[in-house]
Amino acid sequence: MVASLFIALAASSYAAAQSFVSDPLIDKVVPYTAIPYQVDTHTADRGPQAGYNICNSTTEGQTSMCQTALVNHLDDFCLFAPPELSTIGDTEGEEVAWCTKPGKGTRLIPEGTLQGVQLVQSPGYIQIAGTIDQSKLNIQTTPELDFGGELDSGGQDGRGNPIGGLVYSNAFPSNGGKNDSFEQSRHWTFFIGGNTFCLKICDDTQPNAAHLCEHIYDRVGCAYNAPNNAQNGTFERCEGEDMMPVGTYVSNGQTLTWTQPPEGVTPVPPYTPTPAASSNCVTYASSDLFSQLATVGISGTISAGPQATGGSGSGSGGSSGSGTQSAAGSNSTNAASARGISLVAGLSGVIFSAIFFA
Ligand SMILES: *[C@@H]1O[C@H](CO)[C@@H](O)[C@H](O)[C@H]1NC(C)=O
Ligand SMILES: *[C@@H]1O[C@H](CO)[C@@H](O)[C@H](O)[C@H]1NC(C)=O
Ligand SMILES: *[C@@H]1O[C@H](CO)[C@@H](O)[C@H](O)[C@H]1NC(C)=O
Ligand SMILES: *[C@@H]1O[C@H](CO)[C@@H](O)[C@H](O)[C@H]1NC(C)=O
Repeated sequence: MVASLFIALAASSYAAAQSFVSDPLIDKVVPYTAIPYQVDTHTADRGPQAGYNICNSTTEGQTSMCQTALVNHLDDFCLFAPPELSTIGDTEGEEVAWCTKPGKGTRLIPEGTLQGVQLVQSPGYIQIAGTIDQSKLNIQTTPELDFGGELDSGGQDGRGNPIGGLVYSNAFPSNGGKNDSFEQSRHWTFFIGGNTFCLKICDDTQPNAAHLCEHIYDRVGCAYNAPNNAQNGTFERCEGEDMMPVGTYVSNGQTLTWTQPPEGVTPVPPYTPTPAASSNCVTYASSDLFSQLATVGISGTISAGPQATGGSGSGSGGSSGSGTQSAAGSNSTNAASARGISLVAGLSGVIFSAIFFA
């Protein structure tokens, strides 16, 4: 079960304070037909947006710096992952779109990356969780496996992680099932690392998008942010009910809210989340879903984008969503220990926590 192991970055690391921008990404309404070259126009602090949002046939390929992701169907979605081999924490601001289908101006997810995927379509969101070989997505596995962290439309400065990342879907029920029209999701969270991922994109036309896709629980991973019962080796699409808003739970008949503690304090949620009810699951063979990936090689290293590495201050972050950032860990070789990693594995209802600080 994907949810059974998750580890998220704890402390994010900034030597310099980040100011919260006056025009946060989460508030930017950008119709699919009016996407600008770069939706983020800031240059201070974390530097300019690393890639771009207009993605087309000239940008398509394994060096694409496209930062517009589509999340449509089980056979048609994108993940955000590093442009060059790194940890998620070291490139959270610069991740680019990797997709299951060509035609979007992005990189393609190399064959064999996706090892099990579950899509759950609920009234409020589309959730996709699964197991991956993250080495094929430029995510570090040696000298140690990167357990990654959260990417979302919030971020420590409101610019998103990746900075300027846009997400669209043609599959929200409010879109009426038209595959050729795309709605923006402004509330979304992606966790990737530890050879697993989960993403949830909320339909902004539905009530509670902000809380169903809450992005302030960056240290408790998929089990709390996107409870699921994805199985490694299984590819399935299900329908589901909406989960309880992230962080809320029922105890003695009362609905309570748990808030993640500040950095330096191990998060120990007082509840064990369970996936929302799902039904009508249909399983598929991965070869039927992802036939267009057969010829894709593993992406090498690239830096073809206009500003592939961003400016000063980028690259040393951890997960977004928490307002506070602590000491810098710019050495990617030991970034995990430099930043502090919180490990929370839920196994049979037992929660093991450990925190390491350099
Ligand atoms: C294709 O995308 C690139 C990168 O965003 C952009 O510079 C170029 O203008 C686009 N081409 C067309 C024809 O839209
Ligand atoms: C939309 O695309 C999905 C697969 O990507 C397909 O299953 C579905 O039938 C399509 N819907 C329409 C209305 O064409
Ligand atoms: C998923 O299954 C494959 C094939 O058995 C295995 O190599 C891989 O380690 C598994 N992934 C996870 C995250 O358990
Ligand atoms: C980065 O970390 C590695 C492993 O701990 C260490 O060998 C190396 O000296 C460090 N580099 C810098 C520049 O701190």
